Amino acid sequence: MQKREHWGSKMGFILAASGSAVGLGNIWKYPHMAGENGGAAFTIVYLICILVVGLPLVIGEFVIGRKTQLSPVGAFESIAPKSNWKWVGMLGVASAFVILAFYGVVGGWTLRYAFLSLVGGFSELAGNPELAGEQFNTFISNSINPIFWQIIFMGFTMIVIVQGVKGGIEKWTKVMMPAIFIILVLLMIRGLTLPNGTKALEFLFQPKFEDLTASSIVLALGHAFFTLSLGMGTMITYGSYLRNDQNLLSSALWIIFLDTLIAMMAGVAIFATVFAMGADPGAGPGLIFVVLPTIFPNIAGGALWGTLFFFLLFMAALTSAISILEVITAYFIDQKKWSREKATFLFGTVVTIVGIFCSMSMGAFNDFNNIFNISFFDFLDYLSSKYMLPIGGMLTAIFILYKWGISNFIADMVLGMENPKINHTIIRILFAVSASVVGFIILNEVIANLTGTPIIG
Ligand code: PFF
Repeated sequence: MQKREHWGSKMGFILAASGSAVGLGNIWKYPHMAGENGGAAFTIVYLICILVVGLPLVIGEFVIGRKTQLSPVGAFESIAPKSNWKWVGMLGVASAFVILAFYGVVGGWTLRYAFLSLVGGFSELAGNPELAGEQFNTFISNSINPIFWQIIFMGFTMIVIVQGVKGGIEKWTKVMMPAIFIILVLLMIRGLTLPNGTKALEFLFQPKFEDLTASSIVLALGHAFFTLSLGMGTMITYGSYLRNDQNLLSSALWIIFLDTLIAMMAGVAIFATVFAMGADPGAGPGLIFVVLPTIFPNIAGGALWGTLFFFLLFMAALTSAISILEVITAYFIDQKKWSREKATFLFGTVVTIVGIFCSMSMGAFNDFNNIFNISFFDFLDYLSSKYMLPIGGMLTAIFILYKWGISNFIADMVLGMENPKINHTIIRILFAVSASVVGFIILNEVIANLTGTPIIG
């Protein structure tokens, strides 16, 4: 049997796992969600969700992976042999297919917009959100153009994954994460030094609690899962390449800190620019692909800033996409004994094909939309972030509480910590709270779908 690969350094692991966490969720989704849900009020709820639900689950997934040295299906099977728990792992692999299909499409858009900005394509959009919106819709509903960019994006993803854990994932995230950080700092300084730019700080960090609604709480919780890559075994898979000398508590805290910091920095950079140019902060999902291209040409050196921004978004998307493909690849390597090459290219291609349908669902192939009243693209996004990830996360917490047992879990968690002082009851409460909160949110969604009125939201 082949020996399991391991990360080359503690830092390499932290950067790879933060690379998974930092993605479209931070730079595309968070700013527009905050923009539409009262800015600072949303930010505060989001932070609470990250700490209460996110932190225990990040550590939980790492410990399961490190203990078993296996990707999710094998990991659940090895702690709970001959039980149905392996299906939680299977759900994770299925979620990876679903998420990567649409994620790869948006990854393609980021590359196309970076290219467009580079060749000066934003200049005709200056101050004209209608034209920018029209161009964006024409682009995403075209049957060839977005697919071309999606295939390039998925190609990059497969190239990184086929090079393995240390030589691929770790090597590339070690370059891309610092690059993302540096570009964001530059963009933030650029934004804050524009007239009125500092209004962004007020908007994001000075809460007006009257803006806080139940639905923003539900939204913030679902987003906590997505942004931390939780509930589908990504962190189990990355944890399975760890040795016992890694301190998992401090690693998890670093990852959560970096993920949150980058979301906040992206929010500041984007809103500073939006406020300086008098654009609408509540513009929704189009904030980045529609509003920003109309703003960049009005700033000195705008083509460069625009290119940097979309290139940053591309790198953030790529470091997440690789972690999703790794979940699928690792399953076929661990459980089916396939070679990394075969697993990566075969399933990378399958996901790309599903993604093509997803992209076409916004244009030529919209039969699905007519039948289900939602595009295939939105359906996959909805299915994964409202159901698959929360269910996976909740079951993982229940698994630790009732199947594996808190004492066994803690015995593995403390490996790599210097003076562990762990209170079993607190850990138990943390997992119980996160499982219950998530369970309630799932129930809320089911009831909303069945009756049309959620319990809250
Ligand atoms: N965390 C990523 C983001 O915020 O964009 C998305 C993601 C990656 C979700 C990996 C799930 C996952 F397993």
